Amino acid sequence: MTESLRLGVNIDHVATIRNARGGGHPDPVRAARLAASAGADGITAHLREDRRHISDDDIARLTDEIDLPLNLEMAATDEMLEIALRHRPHAACIVPERREERTTEGGLDAAGGHNHLQHFVDKLKNAGSRVSLFVEPDPVQLEAAVRLGAPVVELHTGAYCDAFAEDPEGRQTRAHLERIRRAAALAGELGLECHAGHGLTFDTVGSVAVIPTIAELNIGHFLVGEAIFSGLDSAIRRMRALMNKARAEAGGARSA
Ligand code: PXP
Repeated sequence: MTESLRLGVNIDHVATIRNARGGGHPDPVRAARLAASAGADGITAHLREDRRHISDDDIARLTDEIDLPLNLEMAATDEMLEIALRHRPHAACIVPERREERTTEGGLDAAGGHNHLQHFVDKLKNAGSRVSLFVEPDPVQLEAAVRLGAPVVELHTGAYCDAFAEDPEGRQTRAHLERIRRAAALAGELGLECHAGHGLTFDTVGSVAVIPTIAELNIGHFLVGEAIFSGLDSAIRRMRALMNKARAEAGGARSA
């Protein structure tokens, strides 16, 4: 069992709101500072090819001004690799990216894209970044991550969260959660560090946080949305508390 469960706060959508008007407000770096004081263990930011939210300057400032480890989400492109090698973030999470998508809609095809991805995994690792691959909770993808030498996988929780929103107790919801559980267990057996994220909310975080081999959750959109109602500090603290509660219950269940 991974004792501690880290929270990476994704600040992309602070930048989305800023960019709706141009200018500098709200500042994602200020949000990152606040996230640190509210209990985040890391900051996650996705520099997209189209720069729709996070900008190059945000990445430079997050690297220079924030003490928390930065997890840079990036597509496997030469441009992003060059930026990552310049900043050498603590972690680099390789994600699939299509210009027309609203968000990262599915996992990376680590199995099919092996030849293309190897170069990126090797370069990032050599630069000292902890490399993760954002994949569907599918054994084939986890085995591919091992072959690629990526030490970490992040399981895409989007399908589970979408199913939960439709029907929290439904068969699909339970099936998606079971896929995540099995993939997280397999990651442990394969020696991969396991992370999870996408679409997590106060209602869905507990059932993922309770999975003992998951070491980190990356959460953004819901927290930034919730901040409108309760403030970012309160939203992060509540998410952290729900994660801790689930993890404590899991520990209790194991030792009972
Ligand atoms: N993890 C990865 C790899 C992502 O691409 C994203 C979305 O940028 C997240 C986690 C966070 O998802 P959400 O914003 O839905 O919480």
